[in-house]
Amino acid sequence: DSIPVITIDGPTASGKGTVAQRVAEALHFHYLDSGALYRLTALSALRARVALDDEPALAQTAAGMRPSFRDGNVLLDDVDVSTDIRAEEVGNAASKIAALPAVRRALVDLQLRFRQAPGLIADGRDMGTVIFPDACLKVFLTASAEARAERRYKQLIDKGFSANINDLLKDLNERDARDANRAVAPLRPAEGAYLLDTSNLTVNQAVEQVLGWYAAVR
Ligand code: C5P
Repeated sequence: DSIPVITIDGPTASGKGTVAQRVAEALHFHYLDSGALYRLTALSALRARVALDDEPALAQTAAGMRPSFRDGNVLLDDVDVSTDIRAEEVGNAASKIAALPAVRRALVDLQLRFRQAPGLIADGRDMGTVIFPDACLKVFLTASAEARAERRYKQLIDKGFSANINDLLKDLNERDARDANRAVAPLRPAEGAYLLDTSNLTVNQAVEQVLGWYAAVR
């Protein structure tokens, strides 16, 4: 496939989403928020009261979804669920079901379909390692747990959710451990990935760094 892909993987609340969207805008590329697909699956499962360890039923839930993405919003059956999928409860459920191989398999095709001209920025945990191994640029974005907890706190408050910074830090560490230690598609830098620690970087600086790397490989 000659359509260029830039992958940005990293732990939760590392700033991937913001950086990836800004890079996509700058290059006029499409944008895949793969975490949103796991969150959508989790939301659908919670609503349908599917048990979070019923792997076949969860895979069916994932395969049966017909989400659409419009102007940065996520719709499920024509209802905007962009806010609902950001709730911590949904994020935690997403991280649990993301450890199930059948769920991951059920979401592969949906992710591959985002690869459209003139190019794609894909953000997640396994974009460079599993879904787009032939990406022309792979970035692994990190930030300290404290910096990430603070960002997640601000995000939630801005969206009108209540939040507690210590609970967030605990959740974040649990989710990191689950993402990094699972048997399928564990979170780790892809071979050849550029590491970017954003703890002390502004969004602009991180975006400029990624664009600079891309300019060098394109
Ligand atoms: O990135 P975000 O926090 O929205 O992702 C929600 C959850 O989905 C993560 O905690 C992770 O467990 C899972 N995920 C994944 N693979 C991806 C993207 C997200 O396992 N490519």
